Amino acid sequence: MTEMTTWNKSSWHNHTALQQPNWPDKDKLQEVLQTISCLPPLVFAGEIRDLKAQLAKASRGEAFLLQGGDCSEEFARCTAPNIRETLKVLLQMAVILTYAGGKPVVKVGRIAGQYAKPRSSDTEMVNGVEVASYRGDMANAIEPTVEARTPDPQRLLQGYNMSAATLNLLRAFTRGGFGSLHRVHAWNQEFVKQSPMGRSYERLAKQISQTLKFMEIIGISTDTPQMKQAQFFTSHEALFLGYEEALTREDSTGGGWYDCSGHMLWIGDRTRQIDGAHIEFLRGVLNPLGMKVGPKHDIDDILAILNRLNPENEPGRMTLITRFGAKGIEKYMPPLIRAIKKEGMSVVWSCDPMHANIRKAETGHKTRSFDDILSELRCFFELHWAEGTVPGGVHFELTGDNVTECTGGARQLADAQLGDNYLTTCDPRLNAEQSLEMAFQIAEMIRS
Ligand code: PEP
Ligand code: CO
Repeated sequence: MTEMTTWNKSSWHNHTALQQPNWPDKDKLQEVLQTISCLPPLVFAGEIRDLKAQLAKASRGEAFLLQGGDCSEEFARCTAPNIRETLKVLLQMAVILTYAGGKPVVKVGRIAGQYAKPRSSDTEMVNGVEVASYRGDMANAIEPTVEARTPDPQRLLQGYNMSAATLNLLRAFTRGGFGSLHRVHAWNQEFVKQSPMGRSYERLAKQISQTLKFMEIIGISTDTPQMKQAQFFTSHEALFLGYEEALTREDSTGGGWYDCSGHMLWIGDRTRQIDGAHIEFLRGVLNPLGMKVGPKHDIDDILAILNRLNPENEPGRMTLITRFGAKGIEKYMPPLIRAIKKEGMSVVWSCDPMHANIRKAETGHKTRSFDDILSELRCFFELHWAEGTVPGGVHFELTGDNVTECTGGARQLADAQLGDNYLTTCDPRLNAEQSLEMAFQIAEMIRS
């Protein structure tokens, strides 16, 4: 283990950074990063602290974390309808979970910055030609040509601009009335409305409207920010460290350094080496952090990383996002829970039932089955209850679109239908209807 030296936002340069694009023009990269470092922060320290306080509640079971969005956002799909539909489905899921669980739901999108992807290989062969792997729109383009796949630093700046535009619309929607509980019916997507999920949601929305009406009749104001505004936070994988460094700013009011590219940042399963650059960078910023933990982990290593990232054991700082798969969770989860409990470490336990449930369909599509996802979730809750720990949140790849990327669900989407509307450039997402169904299933489990 290397000697711990003083942290600054550039100290990660002395460590090995895995999963970085191979930028051909280093001068251009520096120029772009310099430009970004002078641009305004995307989020503010006060908001980040607020999220951390809410996650502290989730760690104690007084709130529940709902995190979700695209596997990989795309510049070409940074449009108002797209942003609105993703927000809608997350708001709908949050209502379902709040109603069932009887506690506030902390809403965190994988949005407004989720443009950088880790890959299992640096290059791939396409029609006999070796091209760089697609590493997200902030690095290169998805088209499999040598030219399109060459990382272009200008894309970092474009990613910043797209994130700013997305965040601006999210703020407008959530503060400007769209996220008001009075509009709970209006969040039901057109294509979902006629489905069994849409109808279940409609019934719930009706109950909420009636409650609001009742409150008004007896003289309780529903004209309050709690009713009329939704609080929504952003998150992404902190992968391209040059970009994250450029958006790291010292808080002028409270002091300390914050990575202002998003409210919550997570470390991927492939970049959490204790001596690596990602851990070095993230240990010094005060944002709440997520850490993915997959089957290939060493418990002592996880404990050491938690100590490094959260030496004061501050509640809300760390969210452990486990992704063991329906087949692996019973083997991997209990020992990890016990070790962390024994150390008295405060974490939000969150379940990512997506990333270890990938399978290849007969059609060649990369997919996930609704039943595998649900089965991992079910085990997650049951194992925590058995150990006396708190299942504090869930993490999904989903979209408001009517895509056909995951199989199963109420409509029994079959392998043969995957090609109908398969849009993802990376991992398969739940569509809006499957997302609502998942929320209703979780609601059944957590009903208080
Ligand atoms: C992801 O969340 O898209 C991802 C790449 O996850 P993981 O690091 O868990 O593989
Ligand atoms: Co993914």
